[in-house]
Amino acid sequence: MPDGMTRPMLPAVEKFVTEMRKLYEDGVPETDRWEICRGLLADMIADPDVKAHAEAWPVTGFNPKTDKVSNLLFYEDPDYGFVINALIKNPGGYAMIHDHGPSWTIYGVLRGEERIVHYDAAQRADGKFDMTEKHADICRPGDVDVVPPRLIHSEYAGAEKSIAVIVRSQRSGTFEQFRYLEDGSQVVIRGPEQAPYALS
Ligand SMILES: [Fe+2]
Repeated sequence: MPDGMTRPMLPAVEKFVTEMRKLYEDGVPETDRWEICRGLLADMIADPDVKAHAEAWPVTGFNPKTDKVSNLLFYEDPDYGFVINALIKNPGGYAMIHDHGPSWTIYGVLRGEERIVHYDAAQRADGKFDMTEKHADICRPGDVDVVPPRLIHSEYAGAEKSIAVIVRSQRSGTFEQFRYLEDGSQVVIRGPEQAPYALS
């Protein structure tokens, strides 16, 4: 466990971890594993103890002063590397257009609304990218979005504070991912900062 992590966590979270570890132990193929994770995460974010605990989680969203987003880090699996994060955004908070590199991201909305937009990227002669919105979904409490590797997207919080619990196949900071600036240029980023937080 990373420094600052505490076990046991809330019972619904321990149950989630046990069931996720079993998917790895049983050799469930990657795409199926994350589709099953969608259901497990939906159960976790519906749990009354988790919801009550979430009321105290601090806002972690984009900080324009430092140009950084941070996530709460609840758990990192010592054997399989998956992590449980939370992202808490103030009303109107958003993430610039980005992908999550080689990682899978399972995104469960616990409170508030998120508009999730997927893009097609077309590279121009000057090397920059034109983005076309190809799909947009409003995710409401209880909804879980599965984001496969390399999918280009952005997330916009609605009119109230939003709380999401995020499961990632590997911890942000352990891989490279891309962000796309307003002018279409592509930059490499290392992903959100990780702030250990006890879910117990
Ligand atoms: Fe994202």
